[in-house]
Amino acid sequence: MSASNGHGVQVVIEHVRKSFEGGLIRSLEDVTLGIEPGEFVSLMGPSGSGKSTLLNLIGALDRPDSGSIRVGPHRIENLRNPSEYRAGVVGFVFQLSNLIPTLSALENVQLPMLGRHNSRKEREARAQELLEEVGLSHRLDANPGTLSGGERQRVAIARALANRPCLLLADEPTGALDSVTGERIMLLLQRLREQHQMTTLVVTNDVVVAAAADRAYRMRDGRVEPLDQPPTPYAGPLPEQA
Ligand SMILES: Nc1ncnc2c1ncn2[C@@H]1O[C@H](COP(=O)(O)OP(=O)(O)O)[C@@H](O)[C@H]1O
Ligand SMILES: [Mg+2]
Repeated sequence: MSASNGHGVQVVIEHVRKSFEGGLIRSLEDVTLGIEPGEFVSLMGPSGSGKSTLLNLIGALDRPDSGSIRVGPHRIENLRNPSEYRAGVVGFVFQLSNLIPTLSALENVQLPMLGRHNSRKEREARAQELLEEVGLSHRLDANPGTLSGGERQRVAIARALANRPCLLLADEPTGALDSVTGERIMLLLQRLREQHQMTTLVVTNDVVVAAAADRAYRMRDGRVEPLDQPPTPYAGPLPEQA
């Protein structure tokens, strides 16, 4: 699995279902979604609608009950080495940056590169380059605790890009930030996508953030639909007439 392709992959999701608690919680009913290589897509939806479930499946952190997910040449259902896929093909950014508090920004960004056929010098140079790209060249040695929330997310984004992912998955990356900082982070993600051409999928509850994407979708009744699509008509049994 190449770690240095760096350009976007196509993502094809077909009829994916995922439930929890022995089927009691039906998180994804029938998700079908296609994302073109290098496309920037946002996904909205209320809390509990299955957004993180879907991201976790695409990132091979979990397996679908049925349906198929293809990320470039990789079929998620049949991955022989999910951890290699997670480290080499996808980059993750979460709502809370999940940085190691005892390591500097520079060290945090190097973590995903450990044991990946590169020297300490190469890792350090790449981490520094990435931190410069996210506007943090002056905070290389700072520990996460001394950084602002927006700065921590910048470090987390740099870390996600460490192995030149083909697909960046961001789960509410601006959810814990004020709106101005959130918009800056979104602009940064857009700029990085333009530079590196990785396919980018951002889950967000912020309409401004969602609108900045090439295409916006929402989760509804366990499915993904275009954000601007009118609600589907009620298809269940009609109420009894009085
Ligand atoms: N590991 C899990 N075990 C049990 N239930 C889960 C698990 N992950 C998610 N769920 C449930 O699936 C539904 C969708 O959750 P989630 O994907 O986290 O929604 P969102 O990210 O849109 O807020 C929720 O009802 C949630 O409680
Ligand atoms: Mg979530």
